[in-house]
Amino acid sequence: MAALTIDSKVRMNSGHEIPVLGFGVYQIPSSITSDNVYHALQTGYRHVDSAVLYRNEAPSAAGMKKSGIPRSELFFTTKIPPFDMNYENAKRHIDNSLRETGFNYLDLVLLHSPWGGKTNRLGAWRALVEGVEAGKIRTIGVSNYGLHHLEELEAYIKSVEEKDGKGKGGILSVNQVELHPWLARKEIVGWCKARGIVMEAFCPLVRATRMNDPLLVSLAKKHGKTPGQILLRWSLQMGFVPLPKSVTKSRIEENAQIYDFELSEEDMKSLDTGVYKPCTGWDPTTSND
Ligand SMILES: NC(=O)c1ccc[n+]([C@@H]2O[C@H](COP(=O)([O-])OP(=O)(O)OC[C@H]3O[C@@H](n4cnc5c(N)ncnc54)[C@H](OP(=O)(O)O)[C@@H]3O)[C@@H](O)[C@H]2O)c1
Repeated sequence: MAALTIDSKVRMNSGHEIPVLGFGVYQIPSSITSDNVYHALQTGYRHVDSAVLYRNEAPSAAGMKKSGIPRSELFFTTKIPPFDMNYENAKRHIDNSLRETGFNYLDLVLLHSPWGGKTNRLGAWRALVEGVEAGKIRTIGVSNYGLHHLEELEAYIKSVEEKDGKGKGGILSVNQVELHPWLARKEIVGWCKARGIVMEAFCPLVRATRMNDPLLVSLAKKHGKTPGQILLRWSLQMGFVPLPKSVTKSRIEENAQIYDFELSEEDMKSLDTGVYKPCTGWDPTTSND
């Protein structure tokens, strides 16, 4: 594998590339989002992870535009809200996100959560597929999908392809789930990896709840880095796309300084905790709905 840098990208099943470090904007107040996004881009991030639910798509886009970096070098994600999971709503949200951002395409649109039942989930997916066909979206994916939902979607895509031809059911390129050493989700990751689906890691910093963990602290000391940097490096070396969030300029910078060291095989093994502890307090991946 080529050495990772802040400019590293991976090619998705859609054929488009995604920068492997993303800037998460969940819970960043709309009034300061533009400023934070601008600072992240000045620091070297090229990828912003927003959602309709976060109510900051417009200021995210404003920060991206203010940076002066060509749109083609930037990557913007949004998500169809969990409670609006059906065909009609998803169609409406795609157009609305284009309006809110003023972009003429969205790099990545995800179904935020597998809620609403099978018919509505697959209906919302169909709206994403049509969004790609219409040139409004480049790449599509899901979020908080466990094996049950992934298999349901794969079966749907295959059935459409059998009827209408290859690619007509859409190309599943990304699954964004909570991922960190205390929630490594090996089954979901294995399933997605086998199909070339990129795993995006949300809460890659465990929401700063484990920064004093003795294991993290000792690895931080060993490498002369911070516990947060150890977590993000772990995520990169696992092959994930981590999406750290911060409203603190020094931390936005700290979280991007993760390319001048490497965790050894032994370090990585020590972080294989085998623990299953989501920090969000909700875990739709386990639902069989
Ligand atoms: N798809 C989904 O359902 C879903 C769910 C959750 C999150 N996400 C995405 O994933 C992104 C990240 O997740 P998250 O925001 O929940 O959690 P996170 O990135 O794991 O943690 C963010 C918290 O860590 C703090 N922090 C940031 N850098 C730090 C550092 N270097 N040292 C110490 N503390 C640090 C931040 O504080 P300050 O901001 O005060 O600096 C904030 O309190 C979100 O913004 C969103 O884009 C997606």
